[in-house]
Amino acid sequence: MFPIQRNRRLRYSTSIRSLVRENQLSVNDFLVPIFVVEGAGIKEEIASMPNYYRFSLDVLEEELKELWNLGLKSVLVFVKVPDELKDNKGTEALNPEGLMQRSIRFIKEIVPEMVVMTDVALDPYSSYGHDGIVKDGYVVNDSTIETLAKMALSHAQAGADFVAPSDMMDGRIESIRDILEENEYVNTGIMSYSAKYASAFYGPFRDALDSAPGFGDKKTYQMDPANRKEALAETLLDIQQGADIVMVKPGTAYLDIIRDLANEIDTPIAVYQVSGEYAMLKAAAEKGWLNHDEVMIEQLLAFKRAGASIIASYFAKDVAKLLQEDFF
Ligand code: PBG
Repeated sequence: MFPIQRNRRLRYSTSIRSLVRENQLSVNDFLVPIFVVEGAGIKEEIASMPNYYRFSLDVLEEELKELWNLGLKSVLVFVKVPDELKDNKGTEALNPEGLMQRSIRFIKEIVPEMVVMTDVALDPYSSYGHDGIVKDGYVVNDSTIETLAKMALSHAQAGADFVAPSDMMDGRIESIRDILEENEYVNTGIMSYSAKYASAFYGPFRDALDSAPGFGDKKTYQMDPANRKEALAETLLDIQQGADIVMVKPGTAYLDIIRDLANEIDTPIAVYQVSGEYAMLKAAAEKGWLNHDEVMIEQLLAFKRAGASIIASYFAKDVAKLLQEDFF
């Protein structure tokens, strides 16, 4: 009781605060999203994502080494597919010489120890910009998951450590796990985007890959932002079907979902702080309305506090640099 108990004692100095701090950020927490394009000598800034770039593979080499030297050891790879290679079935997604497959091999060649995770969904390959095969205006489930399984296998064959299905089709984790086992890729991990919401925060990412849906939206497969209970149901199913890591996406607006999962499961939980979250902070900081680094750290710590242990973030490099400067 007051004055014997003074909570401010534990906040008295920087050193005391660091002693009693419950959550820390480390370079070990981060997945770095990477956007790859065809061509050579390309490092182009994404208009709605200031200071974030699309790289051609030759230029990516330097970036990969920089990430590795900063202690960032995992990348999440996305590719921008030329329009002429897009069709409704996502045929190019299975091409063993496709940009994704070449990117995986390239990264493993440049930095063999880097954990390579790959996006598995048809949207960058789809002439409709949808995550699956479209029939009569609807994204059909079962033929889509057949293609996704083959896509995942081709990533494993190219050397991916983890495949990361981001499509929200039903049953895809089981199909992917089965095909990997049948082909003896027993150590290829699956990071499932298990609770992925139909969010308007993905806008800048779709600019980055030119992958916005050509008609409609993604609400028949991604989750309704109004819902909480089905996030746990979706996630438990994915774990049963063989997911090694599960994910909540987007991040800041869905901290309650992260905590719900953390209370119920022991599987590592990843959170994806998505492109719109990045864009909002960049824009506010550019205007001088928010302190960039402090808000960035506050949001990332909130993910850890909510119960995520893995964070996919476009801020990963910025944080790694701050950690080197002993910002905290
Ligand atoms: C593709 C995919 C998306 C994101 C990751 N994988 C876009 C979408 O589902 O429309 C979004 C990432 C971001 O906004 O940073 N299925």
